[in-house]
Amino acid sequence: MKKSNGRAQWSSKIGFILAAVGSAVGLGNIWKFPGKAYDGGGGAFILIYVAIVLLIGMPVMLSELALGRNTQSDTVGTFRKLNKKFTWVGYIGVIVAFIIVCYYSHIGGWVLRYIAGYIIEPNKIFADPKAYCYNMLGYSIADGSSFIPWTAIIFAAIFIAANAIIIIKGVEGGIEKFNKVGMPALFAILIILLVRVITMDGTGEGLRYMMTVDFSNVTFDTLLTALGQAFYSLSLGMAIMTTYGSYVPKSENLAKNTALICIMDTIVALVSGFIVVPAVFATVGSESVGKGALFAFVSLAGVFEQMPGGAFFGMMFYLLLFFAALSSCISIIEGVVAFLTEQFGCKRKSITIWLCIAMLVIGSVYTSTQAAFGIKGIWFDFKNGVTYPAFCDFMEFITDRVMIPLCALGITVFVGWFWKPQSAVAEVESSGVKFKLAGVYGFLIKYVVPVSITVILAVSIITGTTLS
Ligand code: PHE
Repeated sequence: MKKSNGRAQWSSKIGFILAAVGSAVGLGNIWKFPGKAYDGGGGAFILIYVAIVLLIGMPVMLSELALGRNTQSDTVGTFRKLNKKFTWVGYIGVIVAFIIVCYYSHIGGWVLRYIAGYIIEPNKIFADPKAYCYNMLGYSIADGSSFIPWTAIIFAAIFIAANAIIIIKGVEGGIEKFNKVGMPALFAILIILLVRVITMDGTGEGLRYMMTVDFSNVTFDTLLTALGQAFYSLSLGMAIMTTYGSYVPKSENLAKNTALICIMDTIVALVSGFIVVPAVFATVGSESVGKGALFAFVSLAGVFEQMPGGAFFGMMFYLLLFFAALSSCISIIEGVVAFLTEQFGCKRKSITIWLCIAMLVIGSVYTSTQAAFGIKGIWFDFKNGVTYPAFCDFMEFITDRVMIPLCALGITVFVGWFWKPQSAVAEVESSGVKFKLAGVYGFLIKYVVPVSITVILAVSIITGTTLS
C-alpha cells in the first residue's frame, strides 16, 4: 500500500510487527545470547537482561519508532526535519548500519554454507569441526596454509542476492511478504529444537543452571554486557527502527507494538538460551559454551554429533539462524537504502545492487581476516593503549563499542531534552489511544537511559570491555 504522499507503508498490523520482530530477532538472540547468559551466571543474567529490556530497551525503541512515524523520513531526514543540529546522529546510524551489514551478510553466508554442509556432508563436519570451519574461512589447519575463502564468499553472494531480491521488491511486496513466511517458520523450528533438547538425556543440569538465580558472580561487566546485548538484539542505535517506524500507519498504537516487539525478541533469546546451554552441557561440556565468535560453527558441531538425529537437527538449527539472519539483514539494508533514495534521490533497484556489491567486497575482508590473512585494524583504550586487532574484530569494535552507543545516546538526548518526551507521547497517542505510562517513559528517556548509555561508552573506552 502506498500513501497519498507516495511513501511506502506496511499493509497490515501483523505485517509491521513481524517485520520489526524479524529485524530484532537475529544472530544476536540465537547465537550471542546463550553464551552471554551462560557467562553471566544463567538465571541472574536473565533477570538483569529482562530488567534492562524493560527500563532501557523499550523507551529507546518507542522513541525511535515515534521519531520515524512523526517525520515520515529515513533516519537522516528525521533529524534534518526536526533539528538540524542532530543530523549527525542520523549519519552515525546509517554508517553503523552499513558497517554491520557488511559482516552480518557474510555470517549469513556462513550459515547457508552450514545448511548445505549438514545436508550433504555432516560426517565431514563432525570429523573435525574446527578444520571444517577454518577451511570455509580460507585457512588449512593441516598444513597452515592460507587461501582466499571462495566457499564463504560464494555463499555470502547467494545470501546477499536473496536480500537484494527482497529489498528490490519493496517494503510491502518484499520485506513484509518475506517476514510473514519467515517468522512463523522461525518460531516453528525454535519449538522443534526446544522439544528435542528438553527430551534429551542429561540436559537437566544445564536447565537448572539457566534457572538458578545466583547474584554472587554478577559484576559490573555483567551489567554492561547485558546492556550492550539488549541494544544489539533490539536493533537499536541504528537507522533501523526509525526507518521501520516511518512506514507505520498513524492508526497503529506504537506503545503496544513496542511492548510486543520487545517481548517477542526477548522470548526468542530466552528460548535459544534454553536450547543451546543445556544441549552443550549434556554433550560437549559446559566449558565449551559461548567461547569465541566461532562458537556457533565449531562447538555446536560437537553437540549435534552426539545428539540422536544430530545431522537433521543441525540442519534445522542453521535454517533457524538463516531466517533470523535474513530478516535482520534486510532491515539493516532497508535503513541504508531508505536514506540513499530519500536524501539523494537514488533509484531503489540500482542503489540496492550497488550496496550489495559493496557488502560482498567489504565483507570478504571480514571473512578473510577471521583466520586466513593478517590484515589489522587499529584500536585504542586506556587499559591496553594502542592495539592492532584483526580487521574483523575492528569492524565489530567500532560499531558495538562506539557507534551504536553514541547513536543511541544522541537519540535519547534529542528526544528527552530537545524534541521533548511530550512530542513522542503525542505521536504515540495519535492513534487515539491514551499512553498510560507516559510519565514513566518521560523519566526513563530523560534520565535513566542517557546516564546508562554514557556509562557504557565511558567504560568501554576506558577498559576495552566487549559489550556485545
Ligand atoms: N537485532 C539483530 C540481532 O539480534 C541484529 C541487528 C543489528 C539487526 C542491527 C538490525 C540492525 O541479531
